[in-house]
Amino acid sequence: MSSVAFIEIRVYPNDCDAYGHVNQAAFLSMFERARWEAVARGPGVDVFSRNGVWPAVRKATVEYYAEAFSGDLLRFDTTLTHHGRTSFTLNQTARRNADGTLVAEADIVFVCVGAGGKPTPVPEEIQGFFGTRPSVRPGAFQHLVIRGIATAVDVQGDGPAILFVHGFPLDRTMWRHLIAPLTGWRRIAPDLRGMGLSDVPDNGYSIEAYSDDLVALLDSLDIEEAVVCGLSMGGYVALELIRRQRDRIRALILANTRAEADTDEERAKRAEMIELVERQGSGALADLLLPKLLAPSSLSAMPQVVEHVRTMIAGNPDAGVIGALGAMKDRRDSVEVLGKIEVPTLVVAGRQDQLIPLKRSRSLADSIPRAQYTVIPEAGHLTPMEQPIATSRVISEFLESLP
Ligand code: MLT
Repeated sequence: MSSVAFIEIRVYPNDCDAYGHVNQAAFLSMFERARWEAVARGPGVDVFSRNGVWPAVRKATVEYYAEAFSGDLLRFDTTLTHHGRTSFTLNQTARRNADGTLVAEADIVFVCVGAGGKPTPVPEEIQGFFGTRPSVRPGAFQHLVIRGIATAVDVQGDGPAILFVHGFPLDRTMWRHLIAPLTGWRRIAPDLRGMGLSDVPDNGYSIEAYSDDLVALLDSLDIEEAVVCGLSMGGYVALELIRRQRDRIRALILANTRAEADTDEERAKRAEMIELVERQGSGALADLLLPKLLAPSSLSAMPQVVEHVRTMIAGNPDAGVIGALGAMKDRRDSVEVLGKIEVPTLVVAGRQDQLIPLKRSRSLADSIPRAQYTVIPEAGHLTPMEQPIATSRVISEFLESLP
């Protein structure tokens, strides 16, 4: 038996019956929500569809032990208790966070159904996730030669284009759970030069160079215009793109980012990090950065996310990480660009972001004409990884609102 990341869900009045207790049917949907959240943070919500199967619930047993009320924070744990060839059973418990009371327990039996409604083997990824081998999937990608550099890029789906620019020191896989549900869009997530599985040139690292690479990438995919979504360092690149290539950008999504250049103190810290990576390699950044990148609740409750972030950081080539640190250290200030942004813009913030405090995201949104602003609760600096479903939903609503 192994426990999957626990999920916390707040009870709202609409979950309760006329007597103020959580309604028994509401529990069923909370258990389901907790399962999907766990899957979203592990192999991704598209894990079943990309394996050509669907998990049908054959039997659901729920035992109710105690009352829960509006305002309670419930903790849901999910454990694999049986695993056959085509079926598996999950045990789920809901406990009141404040006092640990076991409120309800469910056993859900699933059968994996394939084309034609036939029972089909449980996908390995699901076995691995709910079993003892949680794994980080490398994700689908292709290599395209962009400005002489073999660039790893994940291109999914058809429709209008949306380009995802990852943060530091991460790679394109940080987007995988966010982008899975955005069907109807051509989703393009590259590894910036020197990061992930892209080539690592000896030099040529700057925010301008990253943005030129992305324009060349759009050219090579025959894309005239794209929505650009950048997180943190990806946001610095997105602002550079709007400065240099306004006509290629249909709309902007700026997540957990800012427009200001580094202060002298921040530059000194970057120089220290460069020395650290030179001495000990990029893996040394993981312990330093993880507590700043993730909210405390994500650090303690989302082992898959922690593992994924650690793997990205440690897997990044030292030269690429040093190049990115130099690029951010020397980047120009983009504050003067903000007032001139004419495209629809969404600013996304994480309520517990320690690197970009809410005040800073709010002022970013306030400086951009007609920008929308949204705060994702229970997320730190990596909102798309910590809250993929909630973040995907706000992005999807924004995309649907575009002219
Ligand atoms: C990022 O997530 O890209 C970094 O926090 C950006 C930075 O260090 O300024």
